[in-house]
Amino acid sequence: MTKKIAVLPGDGIGTEIVAEAIKVLDFINSDMALDLEFEYGLIGGAAYDEYATPFPEQSLALAKAADAVILGAVGGYKWEALDISVRPEKGLLGLRSELQLFANLRPAILYPQLADASTLKPEVVAGLDIMIVRELTGGIYFGQPRGIRVLDNGERQGYNTLVYSESEIRRIAHSAFQIAQKRSRRLCSVDKANVLECTELWRQVMIETGKQYPDVELSHMYVDNAAMQLVRAPKQFDVMVTTNMFGDILSDTAAMLTGSIGMLPSASLDANNKGMYEPIHGSAPDIAGKGIANPLATILSAAMMLRYTFDCSDAAERIEAAVNCALDANNRTADIYSTGMQKVSTVQMGDAVISALRGN
Ligand code: IPM
Ligand code: MG
Repeated sequence: MTKKIAVLPGDGIGTEIVAEAIKVLDFINSDMALDLEFEYGLIGGAAYDEYATPFPEQSLALAKAADAVILGAVGGYKWEALDISVRPEKGLLGLRSELQLFANLRPAILYPQLADASTLKPEVVAGLDIMIVRELTGGIYFGQPRGIRVLDNGERQGYNTLVYSESEIRRIAHSAFQIAQKRSRRLCSVDKANVLECTELWRQVMIETGKQYPDVELSHMYVDNAAMQLVRAPKQFDVMVTTNMFGDILSDTAAMLTGSIGMLPSASLDANNKGMYEPIHGSAPDIAGKGIANPLATILSAAMMLRYTFDCSDAAERIEAAVNCALDANNRTADIYSTGMQKVSTVQMGDAVISALRGN
């Protein structure tokens, strides 16, 4: 059966890295007869330039009709002065929300070849393999009311609302417990239950849901401590589950443990495992157009797509092994470069992955 993939490269380095991921998917598609079909659309600033909205109906329809979405990144200097309602980020957030992609999986794995690229001591990060499960369609990112208002005294006031309903917490809890069951059966829920009622409820619902997963050991940590523990002793964690905003922050921290944010893929899944796959990094306008961005996070996101949405673990594993080979052969984009390695461009890194795939 044809597997329909909506491709939304977005802005900045998005177009460059997505091109490499599609190149890899094209190869694996013909090599393994996967019957993948790609259709392209605009999102973010690129969509704004064309349709005066970062989230055009055509792109939503394309994403809805597809079995999976591959997204690059959104945003850039050019659109920073726009009203927040039409900023490129709204395209990404709209897609997450409209497709109900509430479970965001962000694995942080340290490739042994990159132990030196991490700013932390090699012994602190060697063998690191964490899965951050971030709630993606609720919390303060979407809570109402929100805005900037003028008070009676003439002063402006900005406000956002942190809100989670029980059902929203429960469904992400189930996702996280089930992921923990497939790994080391340890789940750490991160909240700020000592201050925020909303996350006091988060903790209660985690505990309640945990009763259905007696084989998983559930622990809780305040987000400030979790941020500290992630850089102090990250290997204590296996699966972490947290709110939308805490997950945004902690996943960037976890990314740097692995040497570069350019290495981290993600999957955003709905209740039926339909998903959107994107690198966790942004559009990096400072290096856009230079051909030096690291495409590996996007290539690894494509592997996650094959695994989670299409149940093609063998194809996913081939891509992951090929990424390993490309690193073994000392190929390094600028973000993971160290002395003695071979500095390669975005396109050359994609080529290195394909030549590894050819060899296996
Ligand atoms: C991420 C990004 C997005 C987020 C931005 C671009 C809206 O930082 O995917 O982590 O905050 O979720
Ligand atoms: Mg982020």
